[in-house]
Amino acid sequence: MITMILQIEDRLRDIAASNGQSTVSEAIEYSLLSGGKRLRPNMLLGFLSDLGGDVSLGLDAACALEMIHTYSLVHDDLPAMDDDDFRRFKPTNHKVYGEGMAILAGDGLLTQSFSVISNSNLDDAKKIACIQVLSQCAGTHGMILGQEIDTADNIRSIDDLIQCYELKTGKLFAAALEMAVIIAGKDHQRDIAHKIGLDLGIAFQYQDDLLEAKEDFETIGKSNKSDLDRNKHTVVSLLGLKEAEIETERIYQSIRQQVQNFELQSNKLLNLIESITGRRI
Ligand code: IPE
Ligand code: IPE
Ligand code: MG
Ligand code: MG
Repeated sequence: MITMILQIEDRLRDIAASNGQSTVSEAIEYSLLSGGKRLRPNMLLGFLSDLGGDVSLGLDAACALEMIHTYSLVHDDLPAMDDDDFRRFKPTNHKVYGEGMAILAGDGLLTQSFSVISNSNLDDAKKIACIQVLSQCAGTHGMILGQEIDTADNIRSIDDLIQCYELKTGKLFAAALEMAVIIAGKDHQRDIAHKIGLDLGIAFQYQDDLLEAKEDFETIGKSNKSDLDRNKHTVVSLLGLKEAEIETERIYQSIRQQVQNFELQSNKLLNLIESITGRRI
């Protein structure tokens, strides 16, 4: 697991360095190499390894996914969206480089992510399948739609909230797990992997809501304007704290069972899920 994390960091550093010198490149580097937990690339590579696949073949797809995640955060923090000043204990991208550069840095990350996959050492069929999954999961039927629902403030019920969380967060987890299955050559299990990703998105966002309700800025290092200040529904406002905690644990339990339905050669994904379950940032 440690070598996998180092490989991801090294590859992301090389990708950032390949951009040359410009303010946008600096802004890209600022957010791409700023201490993210790297959950999505670790999820992809960990699951790929569990499935008996060649981890080195997934590295570029894993980095491309992390680049899309990073772009989504840079844009998410902008004044037109969540208007947040801190991310990962540091000032947000637009606070350092200005809104124009932050928008371009996000655009740059998104665009470059697809060139990273297209230049990878995957065979052509797997490469195209990964590009399709990533673009669909990140696009207007996926993460973007989730961000639209969130931004338009259209959440009135727990079902609306679940739909939003599946899309805005679950779709990138689904991309991680589905690409792992594709690269491992187990195409018949793509749908199950995708579903686990969506469930993980719900549980992960519920946890985010619980952390925001229970922890302070010094612990979580982001979002100085809380959902409560913004008058937005969360799982805590819709279900109450106790019920929200029970429901989060129920979903994690169901995820563990779904993962165990795969023929696993190791438990890297399950271990990663365990570490997420206990996270405080
Ligand atoms: C934060 O994701 C954004 C959400 C989808 C809730 P992470 O918690 O994975 O963020 P980093 O990359 O580790 O900062
Ligand atoms: C971020 O969701 C989701 C995406 C960027 C796709 P949030 O706005 O709820 O997450 P934080 O609190 O900014 O990390
Ligand atoms: Mg947001
Ligand atoms: Mg936000």
